[in-house]
Amino acid sequence: MTRSKTGNMKSMLPMNPALNILAVSGSLRKGSSTTLLLQALQHLAPENLQLEIWENLDTLPHFNPDLDREGEMNVQAVQDWREKVQKADGVLICTPEYAAGLPGSFKNALDWLVGSGDMADKPVAAVAASPYPTSAEHAHTSLMLTLGMLEARVPAENQLKIGLLSKKLNAQAEITDPELNTELQRVLSALQQTILQAQPV
Ligand SMILES: Cc1cc2nc3c(=O)[nH]c(=O)nc-3n(C[C@H](O)[C@H](O)[C@H](O)COP(=O)(O)O)c2cc1C
Repeated sequence: MTRSKTGNMKSMLPMNPALNILAVSGSLRKGSSTTLLLQALQHLAPENLQLEIWENLDTLPHFNPDLDREGEMNVQAVQDWREKVQKADGVLICTPEYAAGLPGSFKNALDWLVGSGDMADKPVAAVAASPYPTSAEHAHTSLMLTLGMLEARVPAENQLKIGLLSKKLNAQAEITDPELNTELQRVLSALQQTILQAQPV
């Protein structure tokens, strides 16, 4: 290794590049609390985790296997979604619960990834949140079943169910509940670990 004039070898070491995290909200709503939660996570994330919030959920067509034959996919929105997932070091999902399950439009987005295999082995953090005390249990269960089918890497430390979200997050995307703050930092750190463990040495 070359030494700098000051003899500081540390300054000669290459910096670890920031990890690129695709942050996906399961809600289409303009005033979505789940998207606000992703913004709060953007503020909480350490410098080396760059969260990009994906905003094109509503551009995807209804999943139809007829459009998804090998080598024939020419729907631009689907290609873009798959490429975003493929290029991300990790994916951070925050979803609400609707009618005791995942929002249909978000499940639709996940369905488009079944045939492409872009989620296979992808480090993922899965957060389900509800304004009610029930903690979006059903959405979480459904999400985990689908992520299992997609063969994503979602260890238990990367998962979180949140109840009473509206009492723990303000309109400025600040977490007002210290316990939730700690849990979200734990999820971010666990996602980072999953990515580092998945990368070849
Ligand atoms: C039709 C409908 C069904 C809902 N079903 C559930 C449900 O089963 N469980 C739950 O926890 N919340 C349920 N909710 C509440 C939503 O999850 C809540 O409004 C949430 O804030 C929506 O997410 P968003 O703020 O990110 O858009 C439902 C809301 C609506 C309008």
